Amino acid sequence: MNLQEALLSRRTVYRFEDREVPASVLEAAFEAARWAPCHKHTNPWRFYELGPQIREKLLPLTTSLAEQKAAGLPPAQLEKGVAKAIGKIRDVPVLVAVTSARSAEDAFREKEDYAATTSAIHNWVLSLWAEGVGAQWSTGKITRHEQTYEVLGIDPAQEELVGFLKAGYPAKVPSPPKKPLNEVWVQLD
Ligand SMILES: Cc1cc2nc3c(=O)[nH]c(=O)nc-3n(C[C@H](O)[C@H](O)[C@H](O)COP(=O)(O)O)c2cc1C
Repeated sequence: MNLQEALLSRRTVYRFEDREVPASVLEAAFEAARWAPCHKHTNPWRFYELGPQIREKLLPLTTSLAEQKAAGLPPAQLEKGVAKAIGKIRDVPVLVAVTSARSAEDAFREKEDYAATTSAIHNWVLSLWAEGVGAQWSTGKITRHEQTYEVLGIDPAQEELVGFLKAGYPAKVPSPPKKPLNEVWVQLD
């Protein structure tokens, strides 16, 4: 797959096969993330790969957030919602938390660093995609919760959690709508 093919065929993947992603494929993706563009060479991103033990520690918060979301629903639906939320943390083949460095003294630096971190994320996603592995960037409540910082041992004054990345071999590839080219590419004489 050449780069343009990867860019045009990539889709966010939400459902994964129960199959491991080879370590070499993952390492190549983290290596791709390392080479993202970054003003001032601050390299503000950090990717925390979450193994089974740390995921287990996230499950009480996962459960309570899912219960809050499903509050008022019939018990069977609530139970289903909680089970689904737990599965999204415990059972995805690859789970990564991404942070971007904070700059308390410099709001513009922090904004540029966030932009650089999103570039690193997309490098990671595209590197996997070129190997047949799909990914989803998630910014759900758990990815920003103060307890998540505690469980992962991240100091919120130093790093901002910008989301979780889930990855694995796709069980289904969706087809989201995209804007036509003439709405994106505006030529000013
Ligand atoms: C910053 C960001 C945050 C996202 N957060 C979520 C999320 O919390 N839950 C979710 O289901 N998808 C999330 N997505 C995936 C988007 O829904 C997806 O990119 C969008 O539907 C377009 O589809 P595509 O990625 O296949 O082009 C997020 C994407 C981005 C870029």
